[in-house]
Amino acid sequence: MSAPLPSDLAYVPFVSVKNMMRLVHRIGLTEMLTGLAHYIEDDFKRWESFDKTPRVAAHSKDGVIELMPTSDGEAYGFKYVNGHPKNTHEGLQTVTAFGLLADVANGYPVLLTEMTVLTALRTAATSGLVAKYLAPEGADTMAMIGNGVQSEFQALAMKALCGITKLRLYDIDTRATDKAMRNLADQGFELTACKSAQEAIEGAQIITTCTADKQYATILSDNMVGAGVHINAIGGDCPGKTELHKDILSRADVFVEYPPQTRIEGEIQQMPEDFPVTEMWQVMTDAVPGRRDARQITLFDGVGFATEDFSALRYIRDHLEGTGLFENLDLLADPDDPRDLFGMLQRARGGAA
Ligand SMILES: NC(=O)c1ccc[n+]([C@@H]2O[C@H](COP(=O)([O-])OP(=O)(O)OC[C@H]3O[C@@H](n4cnc5c(N)ncnc54)[C@H](O)[C@@H]3O)[C@@H](O)[C@H]2O)c1
Repeated sequence: MSAPLPSDLAYVPFVSVKNMMRLVHRIGLTEMLTGLAHYIEDDFKRWESFDKTPRVAAHSKDGVIELMPTSDGEAYGFKYVNGHPKNTHEGLQTVTAFGLLADVANGYPVLLTEMTVLTALRTAATSGLVAKYLAPEGADTMAMIGNGVQSEFQALAMKALCGITKLRLYDIDTRATDKAMRNLADQGFELTACKSAQEAIEGAQIITTCTADKQYATILSDNMVGAGVHINAIGGDCPGKTELHKDILSRADVFVEYPPQTRIEGEIQQMPEDFPVTEMWQVMTDAVPGRRDARQITLFDGVGFATEDFSALRYIRDHLEGTGLFENLDLLADPDDPRDLFGMLQRARGGAA
């Protein structure tokens, strides 16, 4: 007797890297960044309905591997993600990721997807969304420090969501800046390649730091940062890995995603446990103000939180239907008789060759 076919629920839609790239182009990059930002904002606005925990991190001398779970009671999602700054020098990505969304009612997964591309998109959408609340009015220039994988996505989200049209790029490795200049040449920006972080931030109202280094680095020192700017500091996202001199934190109003995680991983790991921060969900629900005046330095200490990935997974689930841009994976063993896993295995013996 041959093995029975798995039930429909056993097949899980899987979005490969190839299909994710097709989906991005089908939807359109700008449209997808703004769409993701809406989903992320919606989930920040219902913050209290989520189970929240700092991500579970396994550190090694060269990097970190993390699991990022959350649930809103109806769906459950997690992302697997790594961070290995040395990888680039070996021809590998610093950050790779995949993720899963499941139905809380029966625990069956409903989506498995690549999330390396999706992480770049959701991180950029989050930066743009936060800057919409915090950047000074009329901001049109951004310094982009660190011109690696995330940089072009960051630039495009800041354009789509905040009206940034001038970019000042800097990376310690000029090849990274050359690459970003090439990739962004026809994206409607006025581009300037800079020779230092100091030069890059001249005239910029938004400063994004997105560098990768497994150490306490000082990409920006206190004397470099003038009044009124918005700093989008997203590269420091691990214990022992920061980008800003701590004096900047004392002068700025610091905004975070989820304080228990940010105090472990963010720029504020340099500060005392009770260092005051504002949670972005409170700004987005109008419970507390974002930017209060033109001279205030706002600082988004972004480390990336599980709800943002959950929002991204929801977005993909909702935009997949009718596209054909997925494969059905035979992922779950699902015997006809739910108590007869052994029998299903035995019946499959004839098919083993
Ligand atoms: N907050 C988030 O949600 C989030 C999401 C994704 C990635 N990240 C983090 O962002 C960082 C960058 O990620 P990526 O994928 O772009 O990495 P990447 O390795 O592709 O790029 C990092 C770039 O930083 C440059 N760099 C290193 N030190 C520098 C310095 N002192 N000054 C200027 N440039 C410097 C490198 O030359 C490289 O081009 C990583 O640390 C990653 O963990 C954060």
